Amino acid sequence: MSKTMSSITDMPPVGLGLWKIEKTDTAATVVDAIKAGYRHLDSACDYGNEKQVGEGITEAIKQGLVTREELWVTSKLWNTYHAKEHVRPALERTLEDLGLDYLDLYLIHFPIALEYVPFEKNYPPEWLFNPEDDNPEMRPAKVPHHETWAAMEDVCEAGLVKNIGVCNYNSGLLHDLFSYARIAPAALQIESHPYLTQDRLIRLAKDLGMAVTAFSPLGALSYLQLGMADMSESVLVQDAVKTAAAAHGKTPAQIVLRWGIQRGNSIIPKSTKAERLRENLDIFDFELSHAEMDAIAALNQNRRFNDPGNFCEAAFGRFHPIYD
Ligand code: A2P
Repeated sequence: MSKTMSSITDMPPVGLGLWKIEKTDTAATVVDAIKAGYRHLDSACDYGNEKQVGEGITEAIKQGLVTREELWVTSKLWNTYHAKEHVRPALERTLEDLGLDYLDLYLIHFPIALEYVPFEKNYPPEWLFNPEDDNPEMRPAKVPHHETWAAMEDVCEAGLVKNIGVCNYNSGLLHDLFSYARIAPAALQIESHPYLTQDRLIRLAKDLGMAVTAFSPLGALSYLQLGMADMSESVLVQDAVKTAAAAHGKTPAQIVLRWGIQRGNSIIPKSTKAERLRENLDIFDFELSHAEMDAIAALNQNRRFNDPGNFCEAAFGRFHPIYD
C-alpha cells in the first residue's frame, strides 16, 4: 500500500516551485513534473495559476501517475486575507482551485497584512488595493500576526490542512510566534542559495523543530525574467560550483541544488522544461564533500533578491521593509 503523507518529515526534499509559471504552461508542467518523479508541489494563491495546477493534478491522477495521498501540496495565504474571518475562505478558494479537499502544508506567505480585497473584485489581488485607481496604492492593514496564526490553527484543527507554517519570517518574528502558538509552526520557507545562506535563521528554525524550505535555490536565475537580477549575478559561474560539477559529472545547477538539500533543507526549483525538471531531481546519486559544501557556503554575500523593502517601493510606491 502506498504511504499517506501527513507529517512534516514526509515533505519530499525537492518540490516544483510554481511561481512565475504562465497559466498556459502550468497544467502540462505539473503533469511533466509528476511524470519525472516530483511528489511535492509548491503553490500559492498569489501565483495566479492554482486552477491550472489543479488541472495538472487532476490529469496526473486520471492518468494513474500518482494518487492524491502520494503528493505533497503546499499553498500560501495571501497578504490581503490575514484578518481572522478571511483565512478560511481564502484557503477554501485555494482548495477549490486546486481541486483538493486538504493541503499538506499551508503557509502565511509574508508577514505583511494588506487591506482586504473581495474575491469578486480581484483574484488574486496581488499588492495593490485597486490597480484601476489613478494612483494605485499598497494599503497595509492593522492585523496582528497572532490573529492570523490563530485562524491558521483553526483550519488545521478543522482538517483542511495537515501542517501550518510561515514564509519570510525573521528570527524575531519566529520567537514571537512560538510565544503564543497553540499549534507549533511546522515549516519556514525563505529565500536561500549560496549567495544568501541565512545560517543563523535556519539554525534557529531547526532548533525550534521546524522544517526549512529554500525558495529561489538557484539564486539570481529566479529573478532574470523579472528584471530583478542579471546573469552576472548567477552563482552557477563560480569556480567552487564549476569545480564540484566537473568532479561529480553533474551540472552546476545540480551542484547548487544538491548543496541546498545536503544542508538539510527542502528546495523548490521552478522549471517549465521537461529536461530541466529531470535534471533538478537527479541529485540523489552523489554527495558533496565537507570541503565542497564549505567552499559553496563561503560564496555567501547576504544577497537577497526577493526583498519587499526594495520591490514594494520600486513597483508599488511604498517603502515596506521586513528585513533589516
Ligand atoms: P526555466 O523555467 O526556463 O527552466 P526559481 O528560482 O524561481 O525556482 O527559478 C529558477 C529559474 O532557473 C527559472 O527561471 C528556470 O527557468 C531556471 N532553471 C531551472 N532549472 C534550471 C537548470 N537546471 N539550469 C539552468 N536554469 C534552470
